[in-house]
Amino acid sequence: MPAGAQQMIEAHDLLRKFYHHLLVNTKEGQDALEYLLKRGFTEETIEKFQIGYSLDSWDFVSKFLLKRGFPAEYMEQAGLIIFREKDESYFDRFRNRVMFPIMDHQGNTIAFSGRAMGDDEPKYLNSPETPIFNKSKTLYNFHHARPHIRKKEQAVIFEGFADCISAVGAGVENAVATMGTALTDQHIQLLKRNTDQILICYDSDSAGLNAANRAVNMLQDHEFSVKVALMPDNLDPDDYIKEFGEKSFVSEVIGASLTYMAFKMHYLRRGKNVNNEGDRIQYIEEVLKEISRLPNAVERDHYLRQLSSEFSLSLDALEQQQRQVFFTER
Ligand code: GTP
Ligand code: MN
Ligand code: MN
Ligand code: MN
Ligand code: MN
Repeated sequence: MPAGAQQMIEAHDLLRKFYHHLLVNTKEGQDALEYLLKRGFTEETIEKFQIGYSLDSWDFVSKFLLKRGFPAEYMEQAGLIIFREKDESYFDRFRNRVMFPIMDHQGNTIAFSGRAMGDDEPKYLNSPETPIFNKSKTLYNFHHARPHIRKKEQAVIFEGFADCISAVGAGVENAVATMGTALTDQHIQLLKRNTDQILICYDSDSAGLNAANRAVNMLQDHEFSVKVALMPDNLDPDDYIKEFGEKSFVSEVIGASLTYMAFKMHYLRRGKNVNNEGDRIQYIEEVLKEISRLPNAVERDHYLRQLSSEFSLSLDALEQQQRQVFFTER
């Protein structure tokens, strides 16, 4: 372990309890608690995810930690406090935010993300990369989700904290989230040790679809069986659950998720009008390219037939073109 790691983790665990106490039991945390309840967070999820509140103070945490004998240097390296040259003092990184503790795979608190309650920027303020926190290796909620991922033989990946938490509330307990970063090779290695099946459930806005497409490509390359869940009207999973309810989310979003090829077809068709010849030809070429990427000949045949019937094209011609693509793409 890097120098100071033990004390960094201790400080995070202590602050997690302190922030949670402030949120749940004190007058100072009242507005934050109301904000969360109004958003649909329940007392149960606030407890389970140990959500908290950081005081509207410049130095409460700095004093709190230093008074307890935590070395300032380590606390700064851990990203909890920041050194100010001007008067050579420390101030708190997280102020007046709803605090989401981030745990490692053993359940130790190793970082925080603080959400502004109003329009403050940034919306989410994260701990920096530290000796105990590496964003590209960490998946939010993994320590809770791991046994469920193994049991259900599938992991569901979300974009955001709120999405992951709402999904767990809806019974999707094999839920994890990346934290504002794209899926990395390290995330994939971690998942691969636990399952071969992944369901991507990102926001259904344009940024989310592009991120899903990128994730799907990576996962396909790592030989996962991958599916994608989509929602209407650019919603994110948390919004969807609030609008249509948990049951609908499970049956009509998770339950109706698209296979790899169905997602690719949906994705490639966006912004195209297939009644227009140019768009149609481009779409067919792009789909053929995707068909070529499929490892399984029976599947390739299935989608060629589907394409042929949808656009009234001869199967022979499509097969011939697909073989050309197959050899130029590989
Ligand atoms: P809510 O507005 O609270 O529902 O958040 P969201 O999860 O819907 O946010 P969004 O879809 O905009 O972003 C998805 C994830 O990206 C968030 O959960 C964060 O982890 C991360 N993120 C969003 N905004 C910021 C930001 O301003 N800074 C950083 N570092 N990360 C962010
Ligand atoms: Mn509690
Ligand atoms: Mn988003
Ligand atoms: Mn979102
Ligand atoms: Mn959201």
